[in-house]
Amino acid sequence: MSRKLACFLMALLALAPNPLCRAGGIEGNMERMNKAYKILKKQVADPSKKEANLEAISSLKKNAADSAGGVPEKIESIPQADRAKFIEQYKAAISELVGQIEKLEKALREDRFQDAQKELDEIGKLKREGHSAFIEEK
Ligand code: HEM
Repeated sequence: MSRKLACFLMALLALAPNPLCRAGGIEGNMERMNKAYKILKKQVADPSKKEANLEAISSLKKNAADSAGGVPEKIESIPQADRAKFIEQYKAAISELVGQIEKLEKALREDRFQDAQKELDEIGKLKREGHSAFIEEK
């Protein structure tokens, strides 16, 4: 391998894990979260749908956790000096979402269907807050 090529590849490897170099990457997770969220909105309090709801929760949780590894597109409009803080706040909001999904899962596993509905409503709130803070107004 030529020295030039080796240097180029090393530079690529060094940049890849840096989230600041790569905005985006969360749309796929968000879309899968949306599918699961819609199922839950329709039937989370229905005891006969418990198993399907637990599956939807598992997908919601996995995709929420995975979305912490991406960076919102809005980062492009944030001044360089504030970007690390922006990412930190984004990760904290996602972590709160995952915690809330776990509360929902617990309520459902314990057959507390009305509580499950309330926990899901809280998730709806986090979704609205997250979108107003981390999606750029067009
Ligand atoms: C159950 C909760 C949530 C659902 C169902 C949801 C769903 C979605 C959907 C459908 C999109 C549009 C995806 C596309 O562009 O194709 C989206 C985008 C986005 N969501 Fe969420 N979301 C949720 C919670 C959150 C939270 C808590 C945050 C922030 C902490 C967040 C941050 C974003 C951002 C930043 C985008 C724009 C994509 C980007 O900038 O790369 N979402 N979400």
